[in-house]
Amino acid sequence: MRTVSIDSIVREFIKTNSVSDQKYQIISLGSGFDTRLFRFMEEFGNKLEGLKYFEIDFDQVMREKGRIVEMKPILKELSAAWRPISFDLNEGINNEIFGDDFDSSVPTLIISECCLMYLTAEAGDKIISWCGETFKSTVTFCSFDPILADDLKSDPFAKVMLDNFEKRGLDTRSLLQYTSRQSTIDRFMKHFAFVDSFTMLQLETAESLVSKQQRREILIKAALDEYEEWNLLSDHYILILAKKQ
Ligand SMILES: C[S@@+](CC[C@H](N)C(=O)[O-])C[C@H]1O[C@@H](n2cnc3c(N)ncnc32)[C@H](O)[C@@H]1O
Repeated sequence: MRTVSIDSIVREFIKTNSVSDQKYQIISLGSGFDTRLFRFMEEFGNKLEGLKYFEIDFDQVMREKGRIVEMKPILKELSAAWRPISFDLNEGINNEIFGDDFDSSVPTLIISECCLMYLTAEAGDKIISWCGETFKSTVTFCSFDPILADDLKSDPFAKVMLDNFEKRGLDTRSLLQYTSRQSTIDRFMKHFAFVDSFTMLQLETAESLVSKQQRREILIKAALDEYEEWNLLSDHYILILAKKQ
């Protein structure tokens, strides 16, 4: 659901902006080894000429990704729009880290797929503020992260989730500050004009993002005979779509 719905957002952004010689950009925060750019380069081919796709992650991750791309001729061929950036996002973010290809005047989509949860709350706030205030054209911030609950005592599932993150050594202070759906929406509302939100459970029926056919295919691939726990888990992840004209 997460991949299909973020793919829908990216696909729509590309379709809207790949007209004549228009320039546009995508910034993926904490991109890791995600292959979305390469999949879309394959899908859209030369229609992506106006796109610059910035991926930011730790130096070690980006170097290893660069090594893999260099090794695979097919990935190298598909990497024309790719602009990898080695940077620790806890240091904040600024125009300079992107280099000459960055343009704050073109339509921009920012993707943060399970990244903000790893940053300090202050660093995440600075990044959201920078994204909301920097661009002179349309800007969309698509964020996917876990949420807990306003009151952990009333939500045992959230409590177990939190314990699991802590056992794995994750710094959960950011998650505890932006703990609920409403506090997450409010975090983005400070810097964007519109904020839509969907729990992962709601994505299952959000036909603008996941079509009925895609839903059927996902359910066949990930067949479950017990939905209660899956629904509980899905209700604790949120996709935010924050926009500014
Ligand atoms: C759960 S992975 C998600 C990767 C990718 N977005 C995806 O959905 O497949 C989180 C990523 O955030 C990166 N990350 C965590 N803290 C970071 C930081 N301070 N600066 C840059 N990247 C960071 C990690 O290295 C990792 O690649």
